[in-house]
Amino acid sequence: MHLLNEVKMSFPALFLIFSFLFSFSNAAVQDFCVADYSAPEGPAGYSCKKEAKVTVNDFVFSGLGVAGNTSNIIKAAVTPATASVFPGLNGLGVSLLRADLAPGGVIPFHTHPGASELALVVDGTICAGFVSSANNVYFKTLQKGDIMVFPQGLLHFQINTGKTKALFYASFSSAIPGLQILDYALFKNNLPTEIIAETTFLDPAVIKKLKGVLGGTN
Ligand SMILES: *[C@@H]1O[C@H](CO)[C@@H](O)[C@H](O)[C@H]1NC(C)=O
Repeated sequence: MHLLNEVKMSFPALFLIFSFLFSFSNAAVQDFCVADYSAPEGPAGYSCKKEAKVTVNDFVFSGLGVAGNTSNIIKAAVTPATASVFPGLNGLGVSLLRADLAPGGVIPFHTHPGASELALVVDGTICAGFVSSANNVYFKTLQKGDIMVFPQGLLHFQINTGKTKALFYASFSSAIPGLQILDYALFKNNLPTEIIAETTFLDPAVIKKLKGVLGGTN
């Protein structure tokens, strides 16, 4: 009897606590926010599609089962499944990509300003690494089944150092990880060679050569 009374007493108190926590978390989150591509993209992502218009296909992305075309200058292809192409990811803080690398293929030095990356090698041999803000270098040859994490914002790379094609999948801690490729930033635009030489200490002849290869001007 005594125990029952205690349960009766404590239940309303517990209910109050739980309903308070619940209303608190409900105020902060919603189930999902499927991207509405007809509205402009903002810093936090896309606007939400009305749930009446959401279908299961918004939460499914088919396209990572096929190898990308590696007949290009980097001998590599990246197939992203980020919120820009996969509406169900919008606002959920996760995304994925597939990277195919032919022998000798490379994903050049790049950063994802908005996300840490976790890469899983599924096929082949990949030398991967990143550079910290303290300018320390962390790189290693990865085999099938190895995963490596690349902390948010840091410059990193992946190279197929094996004799066969390589494949890895990478997940991100953002639906919109962002991408900036170092060599493209330096040599694939119209920033004058003189300024690049002054800011990088590189020989202007080397800069002009790389601009020629990557499609930069000036
Ligand atoms: C791959 O890309 C190259 C260069 O753009 C192109 O010539 C080739 O037809 C493509 N291959 C396939 C299978 O799409």
